[in-house]
Amino acid sequence: MHSTVIRAAAETRAAPKDAHVIDTIKQRRSVRTFEDEPLRPADLSFVQAQTVALGETTGPFGHRVRPDFRVVQGGRSSDGERIGTYGVIRNAQAFVGVVVENQPEAMVDLGYLFEGFILNLTARGLGTCWLGGTFNRKTLSGRVRVNEGEVLPIITPLGYPGSQAGLQDRFMRRVAGSDRRKPFTELFFATDFSSPLGPDGAGDWTEPLEMVRLGPSASNKQPWRVVLTSGAAPAGEGAPAPSAPGTPAPQQAHIYLSRTPGYVGNKLGFDMQRIDIGIAMLHLERAWAAKGRQGSWSFEEPGLTVPDEHTEFIATFTVDHDHNARAGEADQTQKGAR
Ligand SMILES: Cc1cc2nc3c(=O)[nH]c(=O)nc-3n(C[C@H](O)[C@H](O)[C@H](O)COP(=O)(O)O)c2cc1C
Repeated sequence: MHSTVIRAAAETRAAPKDAHVIDTIKQRRSVRTFEDEPLRPADLSFVQAQTVALGETTGPFGHRVRPDFRVVQGGRSSDGERIGTYGVIRNAQAFVGVVVENQPEAMVDLGYLFEGFILNLTARGLGTCWLGGTFNRKTLSGRVRVNEGEVLPIITPLGYPGSQAGLQDRFMRRVAGSDRRKPFTELFFATDFSSPLGPDGAGDWTEPLEMVRLGPSASNKQPWRVVLTSGAAPAGEGAPAPSAPGTPAPQQAHIYLSRTPGYVGNKLGFDMQRIDIGIAMLHLERAWAAKGRQGSWSFEEPGLTVPDEHTEFIATFTVDHDHNARAGEADQTQKGAR
C-alpha cells in the first residue's frame, strides 16, 4: 500500500551540531523509577526553558505541539491532581505532556520534536520515559486543554534517575524486551528491500543508522525500516549496492513504517507507531549533524516495492554534499598539479 504524499522538498534543516548527541542517544533509556528528590531550581528552570522551546519548534511536516509542564509532589500536582501511571512510574518530580492535532503527519512531528526535548534533558542528567499507554489519559485530559481534533498522546515523567529500578520497572523492561534491538540487517536495506544492509556495508551511514536502531519505540516494536539509495537515478533491479566499489555513495535514506499487525498501541485513538518514526528521523538527522553534515526532508513516494501491506513510506532524508570533503579533494588536486 502506497500513501502518495507529494510535497516540495523541504529546506535543509539547521539541526544543532551537537558533538555529544551520539553519547546522549547511547545513554538514554526509559527511566521509570526516580530518586525521591525534587528538581533543583537550576534544573527546573532548564526544563521550563526547554518546554517553551519545544512549543515554538516545528517538525519536518510543519506541525507544532503544545507542551504542558507540571511539577508534582508525592505524585500530585499543585492543584491536587494525581497523574495516574498504573504503578509503572515511581517518584516522578514533574510531568511534561504534549497536545497535538490528531493527524498522521502531526504524530511523526510529535515523535521528532519530543525526542529532541528528551535528548536535551538526558544530556543534563535527567531521567525520562515516553508514556503513550500506561498513564491515565482521561484524568489528565480533563485538566489540560485539548481542543476538538486534538489529542494528548504522550507524557514523560521527570526526575533524577533512581539508583535501583523498581519491580514494575523491571517487569516493563522484560515484557517489552527493552534491552534488545533487532539486527541491522532486519531494519536497513541498500537500494531496495531485497538487499539487507549490514553495518560493514553502510559506509558513512553506519553511525546514523545505528542511532536509529538505538531509538526508543512503543513496546520496543522497532517499526522503522530504512532503504539507502544514491538518489542519482531511480533505484532499479540489479542496481549496484551502495557499498559496491565505484558506485556513488548513498545520499538518501527512505524511511518506512513497518506496522505491527494488531498492535494495541495503535488502537488508542491515535497512530502510536508514527511517533516512533518521528523519533528515528530525529536520531538520523542529529547523527549526521554531529558529523557536520546537514540534510533535508522530502515526502515524495520513491516508488520502491514494499515487502508487505504493513509497510508504508513516510519520508526521505537527503544528506547535503560533504563540502569539507570536496574542499579537501580540490586541495589535493591543486597540490598534485603544482
Ligand atoms: C511512543 C512511545 C510510547 C511508549 N509508551 C510507553 C508506556 O506507555 N509505558 C511504558 O512503560 N513505556 C513506554 N514506552 C517506552 C518503551 O517501552 C521503551 O522505549 C522501549 O522498551 C525501549 O527501551 P528504552 O527506552 O529503555 O531504550 C514508550 C515508548 C515510545 C517511543
